[in-house]
Amino acid sequence: MGVSSTTPHLLRAARGEVVDRPPVWMMRQAGRYMKAYRDLREKYPSFRDRSEIPEVAIEVSLQPWRAFQPDGVILFSDIVTPLPGLGIEMDIAEGKGPVIFSPIRTQEQIDNLRPLEPEESVPFIKTILQALRQEVGNKSTVLGFVGAPWTLAAYAVEGKGSKTYSVIKNMAFSDPTTLHQLLAKLADSIAVYMRYQIDCGAQVVQMFDSWAGQLSPQDYDIFALPYQQRVFQQVKQTHPDTPLILLVSGSAGVLERMAISGADVVTVDWAVDMAEARARLGKHVKVQGNLDPGVLFGSKQFIRDRILDTVRKAGNWGHILNLGHGVLPETPEENVAFFFETAKQLDAAGVRG
Ligand code: CP3
Repeated sequence: MGVSSTTPHLLRAARGEVVDRPPVWMMRQAGRYMKAYRDLREKYPSFRDRSEIPEVAIEVSLQPWRAFQPDGVILFSDIVTPLPGLGIEMDIAEGKGPVIFSPIRTQEQIDNLRPLEPEESVPFIKTILQALRQEVGNKSTVLGFVGAPWTLAAYAVEGKGSKTYSVIKNMAFSDPTTLHQLLAKLADSIAVYMRYQIDCGAQVVQMFDSWAGQLSPQDYDIFALPYQQRVFQQVKQTHPDTPLILLVSGSAGVLERMAISGADVVTVDWAVDMAEARARLGKHVKVQGNLDPGVLFGSKQFIRDRILDTVRKAGNWGHILNLGHGVLPETPEENVAFFFETAKQLDAAGVRG
């Protein structure tokens, strides 16, 4: 990066500028694999406290920043955080993930949902994002994130994480009109929430459609893609310069569809070879990824080889180096440190063809 540049590395790459090495961050980089996080969790056992008390959420977001200086610092929060603001009460249970108190199953419940008013229901987001921007200055890029309509609907309807998605698929395949109303309402509130995060300081925002990979491509086209597009279109209307990233877990079968979502950057997981993903997506689509998080259980030499391999395959434009999904809780911190050090030492001459 040129010394005169004041725009951080990740933001420049996400905007399509050529940079001297791919910027690097890690999904779930704040969390359980860090001792500092586990210690703080003892003091604040409730996830909602950790993510909604600004001082605590700021501290957790900054733990990986202080330890590894990643090119991206992500807000510590959860995809279900805005749901109570719509009238969907929830908690995040230790070891289980989100739990919805009254799962959404009826038309009447959908009619009763409120549009999100961020200043009323998630004001802590502003305090957290402003503090993160203040702290990292232009040395790193602050990322916000949201859940996508299909994935949040899956939590709202199922009431918790699911292996089969039987309740929401029952609704999708026997009463689609009702589900479409829920998806539309979620999309409009998610767009409001994304804009709010940007207004509060997020420089890049990632949308997690984690469970959209559970849909067949034909159903992805009906229940996931149109609502991803609805969110991205609404946000682009008012915030055209903020890069937006899309993630779908298990996305190998829908990569080309992700490219038409309106996202600027498509996350690729490790089930797809990065060179093949590039070929399938076309040269104009920016990518993020895609190391197997399990690589961080390998030797240092192995980690290094896989970083180099991914960076070579991704080419020298439009790549944000990341894992293909979140860092695993059992990962040795030392290997996370090595991953970041190695990635940040890559130079254009040595690695890229
Ligand atoms: O990347 C980051 O550092 C930001 C932190 C972050 C969390 N959740 C914190 C969290 C992010 C980006 C999320 C997004 C999220 N939450 C997703 C999309 C990402 C993905 O994995 O596809 C999903 C599906 C959720 C819902 C959710 N919340 C799950 C599945 C879990 C984990 C359950 C478990 O214990 O394994 C949660 C809880 C949660 N959110 C944790 C963290 C760090 C773990 C609980 C804890 O640390 O106490």
